[in-house]
Amino acid sequence: ATASEGYDVVVIGGGPGGYVAAIKAAQMGLKTACVEKRGALGGTCLNVGCIPSKAMLNNSHLYHQAQHDFKKRGIDVSGVSLNLPTMLEAKDNAVSGLTKGIEYLFKQNKVDYIKGTGSFVNANKISVDLLDGGKQEVDSKNFIIATGSEVAPFPGGSIQIDEQQIVSSTGALELQKVPEKMVVIGGGIIGLEMGSVWSRLGAEVTVVEFLGSIGGVGIDEEVSKQFQRLLAKQGLKFKLNTKVLSAEKKDGKVFLQAEAAKGGKEETLEADVVLVSVGRRPFTEGLNLEAAGVELDNKGRIVIDDQFTTSAKNIKCIGDVTFGPMLAHKAEEEGIAAVEFIKHGHGHVNYGAIPSVVYTHPEVAWVGQTEQDLKAAGVKYNIGKFSFSANSRAKTNLDSEGFVKFLTEKETDKILGVHIIGPNAGEMIAEGVLAIEYGASSEDIARTTHAHPTLSEAFKEAAMAAHGKPIHM
Ligand code: FAD
Ligand code: NAI
Repeated sequence: ATASEGYDVVVIGGGPGGYVAAIKAAQMGLKTACVEKRGALGGTCLNVGCIPSKAMLNNSHLYHQAQHDFKKRGIDVSGVSLNLPTMLEAKDNAVSGLTKGIEYLFKQNKVDYIKGTGSFVNANKISVDLLDGGKQEVDSKNFIIATGSEVAPFPGGSIQIDEQQIVSSTGALELQKVPEKMVVIGGGIIGLEMGSVWSRLGAEVTVVEFLGSIGGVGIDEEVSKQFQRLLAKQGLKFKLNTKVLSAEKKDGKVFLQAEAAKGGKEETLEADVVLVSVGRRPFTEGLNLEAAGVELDNKGRIVIDDQFTTSAKNIKCIGDVTFGPMLAHKAEEEGIAAVEFIKHGHGHVNYGAIPSVVYTHPEVAWVGQTEQDLKAAGVKYNIGKFSFSANSRAKTNLDSEGFVKFLTEKETDKILGVHIIGPNAGEMIAEGVLAIEYGASSEDIARTTHAHPTLSEAFKEAAMAAHGKPIHM
């Protein structure tokens, strides 16, 4: 497009929110461009998040199995060793293949891909600092801001990330050597996923968490406890209710000062590598939002209404940079809905049916409300639980730790929440999401045939348990 040509929609940011919005807009016949500054599409998720972390989780799991799990299955292997450079290369290949795939989708759908940093001139114009040098002005009737999030620094500035010894998730995906001792600050999703990776590859991992439980926001307390037990069995160490105060680098090591969260006894933790995973924050730097009249809240999030519209009426905003959970699939759904609002004036995201998955082993997945949510809201509920240890397939697979737990409304049997810890939980939760989308009851699930022998029978039997009795337990 030339500078004088105007677009119907320009999306700023090419992450899962932004690129999906751009493709959808073009599919709906809107003249669309997407501006991305990192030189590759896919955003945090594809470049330094979801995808590289899952490559490392999958391959470190196989390595760990070969070492510790094959023998009991009658597979004797010897000389198993880690080739870390090749494992990192496999991750990088997954990333580069997928980013090119999005570029191809842009071409196919006729989305103009503008490589550079977008900055508002006014509510209908941005100026793009092109990666190849120079500037381009781009006019558009509508904008969608999808600039995502960045690593939150350690509060108070007492720990500086250098991405070598003191790393964020980005550095933790690139370590060239397995650290002997790794300390993870923050027992949320990133801490547990990346902690699992390096623990499986041989590091002694200690997770320091400020709160009294692990797993971050939204996890069911019972699941969190079981999760911690299972990870501890795999060798991860936990220091809960503990606050890290500062870090000092000395003689190739990092020494962390920590104390009990409520104050009191101080201790020193020694590490070769420290992972700081205390959350992420919205990213709006350089957007020059004032020029367009787009407002932020006190947490730096772009404020939107229920149609994703910012305080400037032709500018919408989606994904990590605005409210809600920082998840790729949440950003994608918002991208589609925002475009539908632009085109048709209506769109919808059901925030009550957004799944969360932690890709450890076993996986942890949930959708809807937790027991603590229901108690706080004074809702009367039933619990239906079924253990994988009573599921024939899980038993056969020698992979039977964990359970499925349904929470249903006492009076109506409507499913309010599903919580799974166990093999393949991340795939299985899709059925729970669909059930909640359709307003299903536990009886609906219990009367639906599930193939035998599959792990999903545990899902069905937990539903049976919510309003009656399961057969196999
Ligand atoms: P982003 O993906 O952050 O994309 C924003 C893009 O905008 C970036 O590429 C940035 O370069 C670009 N940009 C910013 N400002 C400008 C500008 N002015 N001009 C042009 N471009 C700009 N979520 C999951 O659902 N599942 C997972 O398994 C998962 N794993 C994760 C693992 C890790 C280690 C991390 C860090 C995150 C993970 N997430 C996961 C979260 C997920 O990555 C985010 O929720 C998701 O990427 C948000 O998408 P987004 O489009 O809102 O923003
Ligand atoms: P998080 O918010 O999930 O967890 C941060 C944890 O750090 C919390 O438990 C918090 O109590 C703790 N904490 C905060 N300050 C601390 C301190 N000073 N000392 C000790 N503990 C402290 O954030 P995380 O893990 O950094 O991940 C960021 C986001 O990325 C997640 O919220 C999630 O949305 C997304 N993500 C999603 C994944 C997935 O879907 N599988 C994988 C990885 C990230």
